[in-house]
Amino acid sequence: MGRGRRLMHGHCERMDVPMKKQHIVLGVTGSIAVYKVADLTSRLVKAGYVVDVVMSKAAQEFVQPLTFQALTHRPVVTEMFTLHSEMAVEHIALAERADVLLIAPATANIIAKLRHGFADDMLSCTALATRAPIIIAPAMNDRMYENPVTQENIRVLQERGITFVGPGEGYLACGTMGRGRLTDVLDIYDAVKMVLGRRGDLAGRKIVVTAGGTEEPVDPVRCITNRSSGKMGYALAEAARDRGAEVHLITGPGSLRTPYGVRLTAVRTAREMLAAVEAATRDCDVLFMAAAVSDYRVAEAAQEKIKKSAGAPTLELVRNPDILASLTGDFVKVGFAAESQNLLANARAKLTSKGLSIIVANDITRAGSGFGTDTNEATLLFADGRQEDLPLMTKARLAHIILDRTADL
Ligand SMILES: Cc1cc2nc3c(=O)[nH]c(=O)nc-3n(C[C@H](O)[C@H](O)[C@H](O)COP(=O)(O)O)c2cc1C
Repeated sequence: MGRGRRLMHGHCERMDVPMKKQHIVLGVTGSIAVYKVADLTSRLVKAGYVVDVVMSKAAQEFVQPLTFQALTHRPVVTEMFTLHSEMAVEHIALAERADVLLIAPATANIIAKLRHGFADDMLSCTALATRAPIIIAPAMNDRMYENPVTQENIRVLQERGITFVGPGEGYLACGTMGRGRLTDVLDIYDAVKMVLGRRGDLAGRKIVVTAGGTEEPVDPVRCITNRSSGKMGYALAEAARDRGAEVHLITGPGSLRTPYGVRLTAVRTAREMLAAVEAATRDCDVLFMAAAVSDYRVAEAAQEKIKKSAGAPTLELVRNPDILASLTGDFVKVGFAAESQNLLANARAKLTSKGLSIIVANDITRAGSGFGTDTNEATLLFADGRQEDLPLMTKARLAHIILDRTADL
């Protein structure tokens, strides 16, 4: 995984988005969920993608093409039989320029049409003509979704390699509860990044990432924990997914959204994390140990809530297992050191004692660095003695740089 492959992948170190503008053809069909896709479109455009929207006739009953035209700064395709000046044979031109075809929201009708190869409007023609990967985000009434014919259509399309994202479960516009609602637009956004990155420089690699703090119980209501938010680990998991890796994220308790397309194991204590990491690293290529694991636990947690009236309790603490040091196996280990003093000396000691290839050191006392923030200012220390000081940047960008350096190994 040398420099050549890294450049081919096209991630610029200065950005979290691809260098070359990638082209998304967004098919919008006639569901009430169209309004949610306006938000998705805005996110995609802000992230740097070129988005061409194709609307079915039914979709235009819900939202005017003007909405998408204003969001994408590009004409919206609504008709098959009008000539646009830019593209003479539009149904083929769109199909050819697409890096991905996303259909969101996708009606039961468009899913049925795609299954059978219909080409009676611009979107179905484009879908039939494109060689780009197709992602479908269905949205419909729960009975339409559960109908065996819809289920069969979805299964057949999945077998043909089409990615389905959602649908979600919950309140439906028709007033019922059930499965069929358009899934969270952030998941659709992530599915686009994941599918576009499938052939990235980490394709075929198995990566385990730990994130967040652990919780050691004191009694049924109290625990010993730390301030780690998990953001760095989650950013790494997402970045690796978007470069083609198969990612297993092992996380302590937290409130972060489960990243789409990543296998997630939730744990509480350091010992639970150790067990999960041991199992996950049996066949992995790289372990990123971004979790803040509690060094100590209470020797014996109380079975019942400790009452104030019993006086101040004395807690006896015992050492937790050292996860990094306990692991054996033929994979690259990358660790993290969050320190408030003697940063580099402490980090270098940890690099050596735990047999790491790289350690990411950050000084939690610096503004914008450390727990809970979306940014970090880190120094990378390598096993061969090299040191790389990085400026303050988003954790998403730092994640890509850490992956670049790991890939170089
Ligand atoms: C208010 C309203 C909401 C609708 N919502 C959906 C929906 O969420 N999913 C769906 O599959 N069809 C829904 N339909 C029906 C489709 O609009 C209809 O099947 C249409 O022919 C789909 O055409 P298209 O797939 O070309 O967009 C809805 C219809 C109405 C009147």
